[in-house]
Amino acid sequence: MRRKRIGILISGRGSNMVALAEAVRDGRIPNAEVAVVVSDQPDAAGLGKAKERGIQTLVIERRGRKREEHDREIVAALRAKNVDLVCLAGYLRVLSREFIAAYRGLILNIHPSLLPAFPGLNAQGQALENGVASTGCTVHFVDETLDAGPVVAQRSVPVHETDTVESLSARILTEEHKLYPEAVSGVLRQVAIKA
Ligand code: GRF
Repeated sequence: MRRKRIGILISGRGSNMVALAEAVRDGRIPNAEVAVVVSDQPDAAGLGKAKERGIQTLVIERRGRKREEHDREIVAALRAKNVDLVCLAGYLRVLSREFIAAYRGLILNIHPSLLPAFPGLNAQGQALENGVASTGCTVHFVDETLDAGPVVAQRSVPVHETDTVESLSARILTEEHKLYPEAVSGVLRQVAIKA
């Protein structure tokens, strides 16, 4: 049986992509490979990090293109690479209905809050503004809702009185890097290989 193939979508730094790639390499996500890293931004720092690790990268620029058309090209690229599971890792464009339908139940995202609390942008800032004692991160399936698809896994972190957006984000990110590989490993066990 062939290994399950993960496609990772990024727009920037790519630290969660690296966490997933390292977990695949170390066997913490067993029987899997990263088939491709796709960025919608040509200057995403994550692209270099993927290349350094020998992972194939693709830039499919979003600039000036309609969501549906852009997504169609990404889905075609993922299909061409026989991708079984799509992982969004700091991918900053909302997916079209068509994309979600093409990989229904096979798209994961990581979000830096305990959803349903603080969806959308600047989740860490929202947590500070609301004065919560703890926040965290969530891995969830992507559906047509914004950050409200079924939750796969969550981890909480404390919020300190002295926290800034930066310090809180860093504490959450450390947990993201552990949670995402664990969640992907669990989900992949349930994913049937197509061809
Ligand atoms: C992470 O905080 C993730 O939860 C959010 O975007 C950020 C991406 O960071 N969706 P990176 O590109 O994985 O370093």
